[in-house]
Amino acid sequence: MTLYNLKGRSLTCLTEYSPDEIRAIIETGLDLKRRYYAGEKVIPVLKGRSIAMIFEKPSTRTRVSFEVAATQLGARALYLNWRDLQLGRGETIADTARVLSRYVDGIVARVKEHSKIEELARYADVPVINALSDLSHPCQALGDYMTIFEKLGRLKGVTLVFVGDGSDNVLHSLLVAGAKLGVNIRIASPPQLRPDERILASARQAAAESGASIEFYEDPYEAVKGADVIYTDVWVSMGQEEQREAKIRLLRPYQVNEKLMEHAGSKAVFMHCLPAHRGEEVTDEVMDGERSLVWDQAENRLHIQKAILALLLR
Ligand code: CP
Ligand code: NVA
Repeated sequence: MTLYNLKGRSLTCLTEYSPDEIRAIIETGLDLKRRYYAGEKVIPVLKGRSIAMIFEKPSTRTRVSFEVAATQLGARALYLNWRDLQLGRGETIADTARVLSRYVDGIVARVKEHSKIEELARYADVPVINALSDLSHPCQALGDYMTIFEKLGRLKGVTLVFVGDGSDNVLHSLLVAGAKLGVNIRIASPPQLRPDERILASARQAAAESGASIEFYEDPYEAVKGADVIYTDVWVSMGQEEQREAKIRLLRPYQVNEKLMEHAGSKAVFMHCLPAHRGEEVTDEVMDGERSLVWDQAENRLHIQKAILALLLR
């Protein structure tokens, strides 16, 4: 495995990572996946290490892929529900970070507010990895660009159209990483749902350097023309349940269905970070169709998680 100088770094948001560092993580993920299929199921570069995984929200893919990733690297992951820790009774994030740093070699955390990840990273002496916040989902975007590279053989010049909630956390990470990697991003969303200003400013700056474009469309049919990748996520993210009716009303014209996929052209593939709300943002036909990459995306979370842990914690 090639060694990159990411040792000891936290991963709170991809805005802090250079294009080369992002490419290094993706290349390591691809390498680890190849080795896994060649029979190297366990590569114990983190033998004897421990990783605390604090979850304030539910998770299937992120939790399981990090736990299995740790096992395949020879490390042990401890799943900790936020409510079961003293955090749930008011112990501060800073004190929790200081204490956990005395036991473990890294902290993976899924939190409601992004500021909590930043606070954990500020006070921990070990790397802190964002396993999703209301602002971003960097591990998802890294795995997704690994999948796109695996399927299309390139990233620079690829056109990815995100259809749906323009303020989505997964979109934020796709936008930041995509702009750094030279991926052209189109966002098809209602004008009321736009990305976070700081994320967009950072992505625009990265796009100016990589030559990528970032474009907004209100009409999803116009947006998807000639696309390589059509990507969507749920309309109602975890914690937004009270906005459910309003968001569904706004987003109904943005469903990814066969008609939209046909409009995109024959080469377009479909991606979704999952979990999907079938019948809302995507139909069964598209999810289960030949152009859907969703299961490969889910699988690649495992290999990218190993890459992240191996590079940051070894
Ligand atoms: N895509 C993703 O992060 O899924 P989970 O919420 O199941 O972890
Ligand atoms: N936007 C979704 C992503 C889930 C992986 C959420 O935050 O609920």
